[in-house]
Amino acid sequence: MKKHLEGKHIVLGITGGIAAYKSAMLLRLLVKAGAEVQVVMTPSAKEFITPVTLSVLSGKPVVSEFFTANSGEWHSHVDLGLWADAMVIAPATACTIGKMANGVADNMLVTTYLSSKAKVFVAPAMDLDMMAHPSTTENLRRLRGYGNIIIEPAEGELASHLVGKGRMEEPEKIVDVLASYFRDKELTSPLAGKKVLVTAGPTREKIDPVRYISNYSTGKMAYAVADELASRGAEVTVVSGPVTVKAAEPSVKVVEVESGREMADACLGLFPASDIAVMCAAVADYTVANPSATKMKREGNLPPEIKLVKNPDIACLLGGMKKPGQLLVGFALETDNEVCNALDKMQRKNLDMIVLNSLRDNGAGFATDTNKVTVFTRGEESPAEFPLKSKREVAADLADMMETRV
Ligand code: C5P
Repeated sequence: MKKHLEGKHIVLGITGGIAAYKSAMLLRLLVKAGAEVQVVMTPSAKEFITPVTLSVLSGKPVVSEFFTANSGEWHSHVDLGLWADAMVIAPATACTIGKMANGVADNMLVTTYLSSKAKVFVAPAMDLDMMAHPSTTENLRRLRGYGNIIIEPAEGELASHLVGKGRMEEPEKIVDVLASYFRDKELTSPLAGKKVLVTAGPTREKIDPVRYISNYSTGKMAYAVADELASRGAEVTVVSGPVTVKAAEPSVKVVEVESGREMADACLGLFPASDIAVMCAAVADYTVANPSATKMKREGNLPPEIKLVKNPDIACLLGGMKKPGQLLVGFALETDNEVCNALDKMQRKNLDMIVLNSLRDNGAGFATDTNKVTVFTRGEESPAEFPLKSKREVAADLADMMETRV
């Protein structure tokens, strides 16, 4: 079951309670299960456990202040909130629970909580009387109402030798709760078990052994789609041109190719067994007719003439092979006449959905971490228009749309 935590991004929030020492164990278990963990501490948590221990265990500097002292480096709670697949606050003191319930964002932890789109797990730990106080009960009720998951405290012995619930749940149990959350998320998606082919990145068309024709595609959008679909339990294979980005989800398979021809061959092999194909790659439209086997020399006065021939249109080929029940999604990156061009492509390539992004929109297109898309679906009158979002959020919107169509 722990395998469900592999590759997951977890923000571990630690507050100033005596149980903070147990967070080191929780962190170690999460890392052991393959999660990537970013620790965020409240200032008072540092009175209980040193950030050095936590940064060594997580392999990342601990975030606590809005700025790094001296350098003034700004820590973005928004980026952290978006990076997270889940946030777990353990231990959560009455103070932090109260701040979360009321949006009192006076430290990095509560600010990150307010920026997070991910599920938040709260493991309260406090004295029995504080736990039983109507303020705390009411704050916890409100946190539940906001969709957060409260990990009920365990029974503990108090100084007065009374037994009551207030002790932070054991780290092993907290890890189990997180793992089953990710498992259930995978099982409940209609995309679970679906075979998905995603094309990614640019292609390189060789001129000679040292030169090629290519484009600015980075593969960021494609890998975000691959990660999002894999996180919903799909079996994803990315046929990828040369890129530096990597999949965060360990289950994503990558087939590396270089040219448009190689990408087409790989896709033609994989498509018949796929339920969904998402064509994100920026395939070169043309390739070099006769690439030179040796490096071309700078000879004579005239520049060399490079003869180009058409590359296969992979989306179009797959559109021609498509069987009922297969979903084919294309992208259109346009600079002008956006809607017309996108609709024309959907028709010509026999796509079921086309995702339009315009280079005219700020923050959309190549190399950015954000995108702004409009999605047209075959047979549906009006498109779905989305605002500017991170590429992973755009991928989640697309996955939501695919879920209703598989
Ligand atoms: O015609 P255009 O290149 O603008 O179409 C874009 C869509 O077609 C994208 O989904 C892209 O991945 C796909 N495509 C392809 N093979 C090509 C050219 C584009 O799969 N040779």
